[in-house]
Amino acid sequence: MSEDPDLQAQRIARQSLDRDDATGWFENLYSAASDGTAVIPWDRGFANPLLTEWFEASGPDGSGKSAVVIGAGTGWDAELVADHGYQTTAFDISPTAVETARRNHPDSQAQYVVANLLDQPAEWHHAFDLVIEIYTVQALPISLQAAAVQKVGELVAPGGTLVVIASPRADGQPDDEIEGPPWPLTRGTVESFASAPDLRLISLDQVPAPTDPTAFRWRAEFLRD
Ligand SMILES: C[S@@+](CC[C@H](N)C(=O)[O-])C[C@H]1O[C@@H](n2cnc3c(N)ncnc32)[C@H](O)[C@@H]1O
Repeated sequence: MSEDPDLQAQRIARQSLDRDDATGWFENLYSAASDGTAVIPWDRGFANPLLTEWFEASGPDGSGKSAVVIGAGTGWDAELVADHGYQTTAFDISPTAVETARRNHPDSQAQYVVANLLDQPAEWHHAFDLVIEIYTVQALPISLQAAAVQKVGELVAPGGTLVVIASPRADGQPDDEIEGPPWPLTRGTVESFASAPDLRLISLDQVPAPTDPTAFRWRAEFLRD
């Protein structure tokens, strides 16, 4: 019987994390998936339904506006954003993820690029009208999350919106009890996306997870003045 995709991803992750390499495993996993020897556990083949719902409820018109999708993986969320008219940049640290996204969406209007959230191009500073962060910060060890949260916020342009979707963890749960990846986010960590004085929390809800209605996800929206 083939290995459970979640366990296989954890095993590949552990090989990097044990070498103090927090992000190398993403490329190893995407490249194994590209060779047919692994499955990407989060690659659902369509956009995250919680993001689709957000678009349906908010109805933003992306024409003439820019968007960035962080840790875009195989591109399904970026395609949804681009379909709403945004000039969309979608980035991932894994070159094979970016290649796979381009292959999945050959007629895409989105621009797929390799970049590191923690070391992003200077011209992206306060540059995007819509910023989408789904499950990237929680894929990083807790020691990197504060820096990652700050980098996410830096992408938002004046007047721009940030949407964050993440798995929740209880506020009181000690860090060393979490055997990531992933390392789900406390309410405090989600609220900390608004730590820059001009980036305000507009809404923060726990909503049923798309794949498991007994589980919940954070969905938060922020606005830069
Ligand atoms: C758990 S996956 C989520 C993918 C996608 N956002 C989704 O919701 O399906 C995390 C993604 O973030 C990417 N990633 C991890 N660290 C990153 C970093 N520092 N900069 C850019 N991308 C990163 C990984 O390669 C992976 O595609």
